[in-house]
Amino acid sequence: SPRVLSGIQPTAGSFHLGNYLGAVRQWVALQETHDAFYMVVDLHAITVPQDPAELRANTRLAAAQLLAAGLDPERCTLFVQSHVPEHAQLGWVMNCLTGFGEASRMTQFKDKSAKQGADRATVGLFTYPILQVADILLYQANEVPVGEDQRQHIELTRDLAERFNGRYGQTFTVPSPYILKETAKIYDLQDPSSKMSKSTANPKGLVNLLDEPKATAKKIKSAVTDTDTVIRFDAENKPGVSNLLTIMSTLTGTGIAELEQNYEGKGYGALKTDLAEVMVEFVTPFRARTQGYLDDPETLDSVLAKGAEKARAVAAETLAQTYEAVGFLPAK
Ligand code: TYM
Repeated sequence: SPRVLSGIQPTAGSFHLGNYLGAVRQWVALQETHDAFYMVVDLHAITVPQDPAELRANTRLAAAQLLAAGLDPERCTLFVQSHVPEHAQLGWVMNCLTGFGEASRMTQFKDKSAKQGADRATVGLFTYPILQVADILLYQANEVPVGEDQRQHIELTRDLAERFNGRYGQTFTVPSPYILKETAKIYDLQDPSSKMSKSTANPKGLVNLLDEPKATAKKIKSAVTDTDTVIRFDAENKPGVSNLLTIMSTLTGTGIAELEQNYEGKGYGALKTDLAEVMVEFVTPFRARTQGYLDDPETLDSVLAKGAEKARAVAAETLAQTYEAVGFLPAK
């Protein structure tokens, strides 16, 4: 069956609603139909400064949340990126295939380095997308389930795969992005013109899945909408309401048109109250399941060890083919 691969950063502790709706939810669905590889990308995390103890704890926490969200180690391969050394190894080869100007055009780097200040941004942050290319190509992934903000990195992956294949002979599968239109970009509740993100200026706009359910309900109820009161999906003119409708529709499985009908003649308050309730029902068991996995770190670590073993088998084969194609002398 076709293969999917994706990754998530362990950096900030709790996943947020954008991570879940934009990516992780699709990961759970795709493990039923695809040969699925999912990882916690700790190598990517250190492109910005990390406290070692926190990084370690957050890596386990990320894995626990992925399991709590519904990843099943019997149905997918779940692992930690640094457990598979081939990522860094193929990353080097990909670095040597990427133009400096090409890397300079990556918009996420421009945004992140601007925020950090040019002097503090590391070379690792600059080459971040190239490591991501290696992540994807190592597994010969056909599709990469991500949110819209990762599209440019998948484009780079396609370009480098084609370049390598053209120069050295067919080696890599050229992957496609798997981005669901409806949930490709979940917006900040306080600033619905920006994507929901950890780095938001206003924490009230960010829904962390592991927050107190009450705090989450409060954030939903104080979400920014607009001055008229009609509940209608119109991403351009009513971004706040449209974002709430997207979230509601995805979490309940009710179509947007049906939601619009249900809320005809009702105010935003009704939608927010209902969505707050839906969110509380979603996060309450999610938090409990996450805690359950954290309470049993031995089981968690053994899931990750088995995942790394399965991942390495695939990654090692691709790396060997790559080294051979490039012309590295085999170690006898
Ligand atoms: P990361 O950790 O920033 O985010 C994980 C996933 O969440 C998606 N996402 C969103 N989707 C919709 N709306 C939002 N507001 C929102 N915010 C985040 C992201 O698009 C992502 O899919 N570079 C990647 C990690 C990575 C990776 C990979 C992904 C490393 N190697 C290989 C795919 C394949 C990242 O930083 O994701």
